[in-house]
Amino acid sequence: MHGKRILLTGAGGGIGSQLASMLSDRGAALCLTDINEQALQRCRESITTDDIHMVAADIFNTADRQRIVDETLQHLGGIDILINAAGINPFGVYAEQDAALIQRTIEINTISPMLLVRAVLPVMLEQNSGQIVNIGSTFGSIGFAWFSAYSASKFAMRGFSQALRRELAETGIDVQYIAPRAVKTAINSQAVYDMAAAVKMNMDEPDEVARMIISKIHKREKESHLGFPESLFVRINAIFPGLVDRAVRSQNRVAHEHAKKTG
Ligand SMILES: NC(=O)c1ccc[n+]([C@@H]2O[C@H](COP(=O)([O-])OP(=O)(O)OC[C@H]3O[C@@H](n4cnc5c(N)ncnc54)[C@H](OP(=O)(O)O)[C@@H]3O)[C@@H](O)[C@H]2O)c1
Repeated sequence: MHGKRILLTGAGGGIGSQLASMLSDRGAALCLTDINEQALQRCRESITTDDIHMVAADIFNTADRQRIVDETLQHLGGIDILINAAGINPFGVYAEQDAALIQRTIEINTISPMLLVRAVLPVMLEQNSGQIVNIGSTFGSIGFAWFSAYSASKFAMRGFSQALRRELAETGIDVQYIAPRAVKTAINSQAVYDMAAAVKMNMDEPDEVARMIISKIHKREKESHLGFPESLFVRINAIFPGLVDRAVRSQNRVAHEHAKKTG
């Protein structure tokens, strides 16, 4: 990572702030962005190097996105790695979810990272090198009850990553999709934590997840599913979804009780 010029979204978040601090320790030059200015500032304060630029911005806003790219180029002189880590994760009964929240989920988790990739690609094509890293989720391969909009947003990012990877195969640009399982961060509401405890869902610490993500970036792995047995379930679900339907039936009923409590 030494000397790599990295643009990281969601840098104020649980995984993003760990990534920022570890990438900085490894000698990367960073441009950190997040909509949450206070969280971004806290992330900045946890890093000791000066070689960091911050942009408080909403990645769904067109002008903000352009500002993120412009300031990154101005401060870093290029972009070697874009890490799309910003996101939101509404949990609840789909039929009762606010339509605006469903739309926002796709806007933030899917459309915004796709458009940010579109904005940095000309720079990477000009360099003929680069890495685009899209942070997905286990729910981007296994459709999870009560996370329908979120699952849809991450399935889309996995498809986008695969298609673009193939499109860029003759260039020096790699597209990676890295999918953590559940992680203990603020993206998950108390209802999610309660549900996770009730169904005994594995939840990782954000620092271990950040370490795994950096290792996958380093190895330029195309598609990575973090955590076992979730990585195996991803494969089983792809081939025998009916088996998984039956296996998760009782878990879904328990999770439903928690999903009903959210708006
Ligand atoms: N935690 C998990 O269980 C888990 C599991 C698998 C995958 N992931 C993925 O990992 C990534 C990082 O998630 P995390 O767990 O670190 O969550 P997090 O702590 O909530 O961090 C996400 C960050 O993105 C920011 N953000 C939200 N909307 C934005 C926007 N419009 N523009 C710019 N920034 C925005 C959030 O700001 P606010 O605080 O203001 O919302 C937050 O600081 C996400 O893509 C998530 O889907 C997470």
